Amino acid sequence: MSAATAFIRAEDLRKQYQLRRGLFGKGKTLHAVAGVDFEVPAGSTFGLVGESGSGKSTLARLLLAAEPASGGRLHVDGKPLSTGTARERKAFHRLVQPVLQDPYASLNPLMRIGDIVSEPMRIHGLAKGPALAARVAALLQSVGLTPSLAQRFPGELSGGQRQRVAIARALGLAPRALVLDEPVSALDVSIQAQILNLLKDIQRQQGLTYVLISHDLAVVAYMSSQIGVLYLGEFVELGSRDDIIRNPRHPYTRALMASSESRVESGAESGAAAVAEIPSPIALPPGCRFQSRCPHAAPRCREHKPALREVGREVGREVGQKVGPDAGPEAGAAHRVACHFDL
Ligand SMILES: Nc1ncnc2c1ncn2[C@@H]1O[C@H](COP(=O)(O)OP(=O)(O)O)[C@@H](O)[C@H]1O
Ligand SMILES: [Mg+2]
Repeated sequence: MSAATAFIRAEDLRKQYQLRRGLFGKGKTLHAVAGVDFEVPAGSTFGLVGESGSGKSTLARLLLAAEPASGGRLHVDGKPLSTGTARERKAFHRLVQPVLQDPYASLNPLMRIGDIVSEPMRIHGLAKGPALAARVAALLQSVGLTPSLAQRFPGELSGGQRQRVAIARALGLAPRALVLDEPVSALDVSIQAQILNLLKDIQRQQGLTYVLISHDLAVVAYMSSQIGVLYLGEFVELGSRDDIIRNPRHPYTRALMASSESRVESGAESGAAAVAEIPSPIALPPGCRFQSRCPHAAPRCREHKPALREVGREVGREVGQKVGPDAGPEAGAAHRVACHFDL
């Protein structure tokens, strides 16, 4: 994949938080995103999966220029986010818009739907008066809502309707990309598929680039052409959807897969990915970050940190065979795994 086709390109992107010194101890550094590299080709979906605390939302905020990175580089549409000035961030916001998990929290309950949807367009001075009202009506229709909902308040809508409003609001600036952070996690399973399919339709119609975040590998697998598995702020596995889903190589990816499958079978809402809990990103284990939970851990895993290395692919690589229904240039991205073993 050439850099020219990548709409979003992150290089060694990092975010650390300084935890304050206080009455009860010294200050500490928390590495929320500890150096990630990836590219998202224009018009494709990059799925980001990992359990709670792995750094997904922090990475989302960096991609949205909502927070400055502590290190590394971010390019969107070939342009670097460098100075971090308000003006530069505003230009980035035109290109990349957020859709967040909980529309209860992300939609102001005191504002009417029409005002919520029109607010970004007003802030950016894109339209006003009757033209703005017409644009809001068209946006509501584009997400399957009737324009008369513009007069209602978020509390009068169902969860699915509210997430459609959040999508309409995000589309108002005619962005080129959406960062979707757990966009269906707060919704009933039956509604989840409707919203995911709506997002797919919108992507097809508008050629949007998506970064889709979920703790649920099934959601990511349904939507994405490339998948990155994040663990304690780093990728432990990265590749095309088929590489990750049909040939997962990292024990953590396999644990996520097993948890996703057992959840589907039992109908439970959440499941722990592996036996022990995720370690704190303040006190990182030496060696491999996953060794404290890994069924294959050996002495060298405790001493040496495995690099993210390219692995061979056995799946769907016969001559002329397409890899998955959406196989495009992105299907050529390398399959990389950070593990000492060839599992
Ligand atoms: N503003 C912040 N200040 C300090 N720590 C933070 C902040 N935001 C996130 N973190 C920490 O960074 C880690 C990753 O959090 P987050 O990005 O929210 O993960 P996820 O979305 O995968 O659950 C967590 O340990 C979290 O406590
Ligand atoms: Mg999160």
